[in-house]
Amino acid sequence: MAAARTVLLTGSNRGIGLELVKQLLSSPRPPAWIFATCRDPEGTRAQELRDLASKHPNLVLVKLDVANPSAIRDAAKVVEGKLNGMGLNLLINNAGIYTPTATLETANAEDMVSTYKTNAVGPMLMAQAFLPLLKKAAQDSKEKGLSCSKAAIINISTILGSIKKTPDSFFKPVISYRCSKADLTVDTSVRGLLSVLTILSEKHSGTLLNWEGKAIPW
Ligand SMILES: NC(=O)c1ccc[n+]([C@@H]2O[C@H](COP(=O)([O-])OP(=O)(O)OC[C@H]3O[C@@H](n4cnc5c(N)ncnc54)[C@H](OP(=O)(O)O)[C@@H]3O)[C@@H](O)[C@H]2O)c1
Repeated sequence: MAAARTVLLTGSNRGIGLELVKQLLSSPRPPAWIFATCRDPEGTRAQELRDLASKHPNLVLVKLDVANPSAIRDAAKVVEGKLNGMGLNLLINNAGIYTPTATLETANAEDMVSTYKTNAVGPMLMAQAFLPLLKKAAQDSKEKGLSCSKAAIINISTILGSIKKTPDSFFKPVISYRCSKADLTVDTSVRGLLSVLTILSEKHSGTLLNWEGKAIPW
């Protein structure tokens, strides 16, 4: 993982995104550039990220709302300028929203549309906008095959996205699901996630993997 010289993450001001930034920065061979994007880099929610950036010159904060296509294009220009001819090795689409109260009875059109815009359309637009920089990294690399140190797009998903696993979680009360997740800390989850990134290759392309690298059925 540390071999990825340039990494960009979305939703990096808190939660898993912020922990990814921290663990990447403290890895034995940190990336030359980490583009930590978030909706409001100047706001209070990004204070921890700004504190990190003041100590780590390889950490660059970039304003980016994944539900806003023009903001994505603007961010891609900023990153391209900063990379100054280098490519982007790794795009991590981490930003996501989750409405725990949405049931069949309470779900509404606005929530469905905004969730799709952020969680599904956002990663597609991100991939589109950053594809030229990812291609550049792939062309400049001497590595064979796919890898996160060459050029890759990682979409942070969830077991709740597995259609086959839906019966396992759908009929259980949400409360037990939330309690069961309390065992896994953000630190453990991100440690697992980063170690999975190091083993990815062609055969993993398009697969849904958990934080331990085990395949989850679609
Ligand atoms: N936590 C879990 O147990 C778990 C389990 C499986 C999968 N995941 C996935 O992991 C990812 C991160 O989850 P998390 O638990 O760290 O979530 P979180 O703590 O709620 O953080 C979500 C992040 O996404 C950002 N975000 C939301 N909408 C955005 C938008 N339109 N543009 C840019 N950034 C946006 C938030 O920024 P603001 O501060 O601006 O709101 C925040 O930085 C998500 O994709 C989630 O589905 C999480």
